Amino acid sequence: MTQKKVLVTYGSWLGSTREVAERIGEVLRRQGAQVDVIDGRTLKSAAGYDGILIGTAVRAGMLPGGARRAVRKVAATAQGTPAAGFVVCLAITDEKIEDREITSRAYLTKHTEKAGLKLVDVQPFAGAVLAQNARGFMKMVTKSMAEQTGDKRDWSAIESWAQAVFPKLLP
Ligand SMILES: Cc1cc2nc3c(=O)[nH]c(=O)nc-3n(C[C@H](O)[C@H](O)[C@H](O)COP(=O)(O)O)c2cc1C
Repeated sequence: MTQKKVLVTYGSWLGSTREVAERIGEVLRRQGAQVDVIDGRTLKSAAGYDGILIGTAVRAGMLPGGARRAVRKVAATAQGTPAAGFVVCLAITDEKIEDREITSRAYLTKHTEKAGLKLVDVQPFAGAVLAQNARGFMKMVTKSMAEQTGDKRDWSAIESWAQAVFPKLLP
């Protein structure tokens, strides 16, 4: 069997989603794939891959420019390639939100649907506020958030999903 090529492209502000993307890339490599993990801000083309993962952070309901660009580039250059998504956010942990799974997925799917991109799976993950990576005013805003939330990333859930999604990308 020839080695499968997978693109993991993402948008991240403070780095927690980048770390999730990198971890997913490592899991896919362990499964035998050749993996490129690329910040959506620098993604030129998504052509030539057998499968694609698009990951995003969320801030006030919005996606980082890198994730929006990743969606646009994948839609423009890799229509038809099996693609899945992951959303690193805090809504998924918020028990006050009744439909938190739907809300969390929708952050990404409203963009992919608009771009005409079908995803075989969209997985929400609890995120983290890495205030140490913020600058200026955002450092103040995020510091108190970070103190309240801590790092909610569940690395074993992230790794399990990466293993489970791999065969879905490569029918
Ligand atoms: C200022 C700010 C606003 C946020 N707004 C939302 C939001 O609207 N919905 C949500 O689910 N998570 C929200 N989050 C949580 C982030 O999506 C989460 O912390 C994520 O892990 C950040 O990813 P990053 O480190 O890659 O930027 C917010 C976080 C910050 C710092």
